[in-house]
Amino acid sequence: MKAERSLKSLCARSWNRGPAASTYTPRCRDILRNFVLGISGARPTWTPANFIEQTVEEIRRRVDEHARATGSDGKVICALSGGVDSSVTATLLHRAVGEQLTAVFVNNGLLRHGEAEETLEALQANLGVKVEYVDATPRFLAALKGVTDPEEKRRRVGATFIEVFEEAAGRLGEVDYLAQGTLYPDVIESATSASKAAARIKTHHNVGGLPEHLRFRLVEPLRYLFKDEVRQVGLALGLPEEMVWRQPFPGPGLAVRVIGEVTAERLETLRAADRIVREEIASAGLARKVWQYFAVLTPLRSVGVMGDQRTYADVVAVRAVAAEDAMTADWARLPYDVLARISHRIVNEVPGVNRVVYDVSSKPPATIEWE
Ligand code: XMP
Repeated sequence: MKAERSLKSLCARSWNRGPAASTYTPRCRDILRNFVLGISGARPTWTPANFIEQTVEEIRRRVDEHARATGSDGKVICALSGGVDSSVTATLLHRAVGEQLTAVFVNNGLLRHGEAEETLEALQANLGVKVEYVDATPRFLAALKGVTDPEEKRRRVGATFIEVFEEAAGRLGEVDYLAQGTLYPDVIESATSASKAAARIKTHHNVGGLPEHLRFRLVEPLRYLFKDEVRQVGLALGLPEEMVWRQPFPGPGLAVRVIGEVTAERLETLRAADRIVREEIASAGLARKVWQYFAVLTPLRSVGVMGDQRTYADVVAVRAVAAEDAMTADWARLPYDVLARISHRIVNEVPGVNRVVYDVSSKPPATIEWE
């Protein structure tokens, strides 16, 4: 429902104006619903099917017009990460321009365990989209060497990502458009030209970090949607449930979950711990109930004991949050036995980790990610 969607945008925008308005007004939704549907008489006509039809039509028109004006082939590159946002973007683009789309999947070496393989298989098999796979792991690790500042990590991951894209585009000949799965919360929080009023909270590389010289025009069909709406659209497009329900994952990936310097070894430790968190949440049947759940590798080491030996090893934090749209979030009240299994498995199965802590902070004032 378009009107319902607008209500959420209004609530979100009022949240964004400052701390005083950062918790929703009591009965905010009712008040706004009455105003939008009752007083102003707007009609709730937004549906995933309408959105798909209009968006596909609009993309096709835009790409075709540009191609006619410039005499190009109207080629589009789509940034694929395997998450719901980029998969929905790819499917919309594929519907709109068919063979003119090439989906580029960059493995930045900052993905979760098994993600690159699963993504390649799911996207090629399920979406029927031509995928160009680029393994740029060494390049991203080199760009991150010695960097500990979170915003600097984002900038470097973002810049490297764009470089790799430009090279992939070069191999494909002339490319007009780059499609990205940017969502509305990213737009607000990065305070791009479309939303100057918002304070800069974090630079989300897929919005704020694009270098000036970027040659591509951007297509961002999900720019005004929240995550739950993207999922509805994904289901309406016929995407598989497991892809549509994948938890959100930040563009800079595990780089912002390894606190401090990112190295291949620390990424390996984090991946192993994160895999356990995901497995245990899934086997407890909580995967769809928790907005995001993951491990963070802290820069701390603590003393422990294993057998007769004293250890001095890494501390892993577990983060799980409940949220509706990531603008605000509360720490998830995971059952103690699930936490116990996660902790037990991590300290026993992940070399170099002897302690697990659970993050009980809400957003605001904390953020979902640690960096
Ligand atoms: P925070 O940590 O700001 O996260 O509460 C809100 C949502 O955004 C995701 N996130 C990012 N997504 N690039 C992204 O594409 C980023 O740099 C980034 N930082 C955070 C985060 O996982 C959560 O879903």
